[in-house]
Amino acid sequence: MASVEVEEAPGKLENAGKDEAEAEYHSHDFEWKDLKAEVESDPAFCYHLTPFHSPAENSSSPPQPSSEAWRSFHRRHASGKFFKERRYLLKEFPELTNSKACAKILEVGCGNGSTAVSILRSSGGITVFACDCSEDTLERANEVICNTKGIDTKDRFHPFLMDVSKATFPDWLFCNACKSSHGKAAEFYLDPSHHKIRKEHPDFLRENQCCVGGMDFITMIFTLSAIPFAIMPSTIQQCVSVLKPGGLLLFRDYGLYDMTMLRFLPHQRVGFREYMRSDGTLSYFFTLDTVRELFNAAGLIELELEYCCVKSVNRKKGKEMQRVWVHGKFQKPQS
Ligand SMILES: C[S@@+](CC[C@H](N)C(=O)[O-])C[C@H]1O[C@@H](n2cnc3c(N)ncnc32)[C@H](O)[C@@H]1O
Repeated sequence: MASVEVEEAPGKLENAGKDEAEAEYHSHDFEWKDLKAEVESDPAFCYHLTPFHSPAENSSSPPQPSSEAWRSFHRRHASGKFFKERRYLLKEFPELTNSKACAKILEVGCGNGSTAVSILRSSGGITVFACDCSEDTLERANEVICNTKGIDTKDRFHPFLMDVSKATFPDWLFCNACKSSHGKAAEFYLDPSHHKIRKEHPDFLRENQCCVGGMDFITMIFTLSAIPFAIMPSTIQQCVSVLKPGGLLLFRDYGLYDMTMLRFLPHQRVGFREYMRSDGTLSYFFTLDTVRELFNAAGLIELELEYCCVKSVNRKKGKEMQRVWVHGKFQKPQS
């Protein structure tokens, strides 16, 4: 199988002795700057550090929007084995559980629903709108959520099909106050009860309602890294356009020098800190500065931004793994 590294909670990686409930999700098992020094002085890793001038220097073609690769990935993994509930996110972003009862959340690139399930479980009043570029994965997310005990899904989970690197969000997602020309009318969305893609006015909107009023939260959990770097600014701008003033964007993704980055081979480089797996899906590895620049450029205010550095042991291989993730929390200004 091609190797999309489906991200795991630190507790799920054999994080010896750490119960998930107790694990710290702002972990600093090691200092990122020590890992940086180690990697940058190791000649075996020097190809990760050199500037990337043009695709011609590599045999592979430049990164294309990788949504088709993701669609194939989800078709191949229809068993949904990649579902792992991200319970730790509620600890990482406690505002999701402390939020007002009727909060609306957009999960961008929801996959099989690993993030959406945890959020829906946390409070009966939260509504999750979830988009992905793959119809197969949306259907699976819907099944997973409908079959998860303890979640009343009625009117609370609204998956819809969308390639965030290309299309604009549907009109009904916007907050009227911040609505701009970015939105467009009725879009494809997944009817949760019929498991079908439809193109009409969503029935969760009342007749006289034209939008759901914008999002209180947007979650981007291991999704931005899957989008070509060049397209990230416009993708973030898009997401910010459906966030209410004062709303939060919650971010978790791969950090620079994460173990999975160091495993990529020279021919898999398709850009600076950007790699293509053998199945065509992309992975980018972020520094804090890059994340800061991307989100600041979209007008967001930084509230939290840090590396999470977790050491864990792969019991099968008996190897220690140094995982690096970036945790970020950004706010849309009130005015
Ligand atoms: C690593 S998975 C993360 C899934 C989920 N956020 C989670 O927490 O498990 C990345 C997801 O982003 C989706 N994706 C990739 N590119 C996309 C795009 N251009 N538009 C919408 N979704 C995209 C993929 O299909 C995949 O489901």
